[in-house]
Amino acid sequence: MAGRIIVKKDKRTVSREIGLEIGSICGKYFLKLNHLHYGYWTDGLEVDIANVHIAQENYANFLISHIPESAKKILDVGCGTGQIAKKLIDKGYMVDCVSPSHFLAGQARKLLGNSSNIFECFYEKLQTENRYDVILFSESFQYIDIEEGLRKTLSLLNPDGYMLICDLFRKKTIEKSDISGGHQLELFQDTVSEYPLTIIKDLDITEKTAPNIDVINDMFKNAVHPTVILVQQLLENRYHFMSKCIKWLYRKKISKINRKYFNYEKTGEKFKKFKSYRLLLYKKSDSR
Ligand SMILES: C[S@@+](CC[C@H](N)C(=O)[O-])C[C@H]1O[C@@H](n2cnc3c(N)ncnc32)[C@H](O)[C@@H]1O
Repeated sequence: MAGRIIVKKDKRTVSREIGLEIGSICGKYFLKLNHLHYGYWTDGLEVDIANVHIAQENYANFLISHIPESAKKILDVGCGTGQIAKKLIDKGYMVDCVSPSHFLAGQARKLLGNSSNIFECFYEKLQTENRYDVILFSESFQYIDIEEGLRKTLSLLNPDGYMLICDLFRKKTIEKSDISGGHQLELFQDTVSEYPLTIIKDLDITEKTAPNIDVINDMFKNAVHPTVILVQQLLENRYHFMSKCIKWLYRKKISKINRKYFNYEKTGEKFKKFKSYRLLLYKKSDSR
């Protein structure tokens, strides 16, 4: 097993990792969710929080169905809780994982035991002699610098290897979206075109993934926000002076949180306007 590589993380990275870890804990506890990615909403599947686990399984199966037939050895970059790696191992692939989160790496280790090398580090910092037939980024490419990610991928792929990305990208729009995440699609495509990688598949699954935003919006509106308001009321009632001070001291942060999480303007329709969710399969070609 690979050792733990300690790297200094910036504040944003730490918040993002903690956000994913909280998402994993709450998703598992309240909704029995095992995965940390969007769901793939097939026709006829009712868009309801109770069906998120089905949509997530659909996504995992959809993704796995696009692994090239010749592949044997896969590197799962940003493996989350290790669920996709587990499915791949059960299908007979050899799978190594990369996870910069100590917590998520622990979850993956529990699930995968000795069946996988889990490199606990950022992908950009990964050091290994191993080479892979497929390097898989399931909703993790958005967190990695494009050029650094491509260079690292080319160095770790076997000569006929593939890079498989399933992730959201930002469309080029004048208006700014309040839904965060994703590299700018055109910039990504222009950058990849400079590298010895040939596009094999480019599937737009935005329609199938957009309903996730409606589900999250609904959850924040009808469960998270009312709970936060009640807790605030409770604190004001019990610790009136202290809660007034906190509200005043952190007024800017509180209003930022309200704008970010409790504005209810993040909808599936908006997602379609500003984002493009793609499955992209590239084959390593001869260096030019
Ligand atoms: C949205 S989760 C997706 C998890 C998993 N791939 C899945 O599909 O369920 C994003 C994952 O990317 C990982 N990640 C974030 N930045 C990374 C980096 N620089 N290198 C490797 N993994 C990273 C996170 O720890 C997390 O596991």
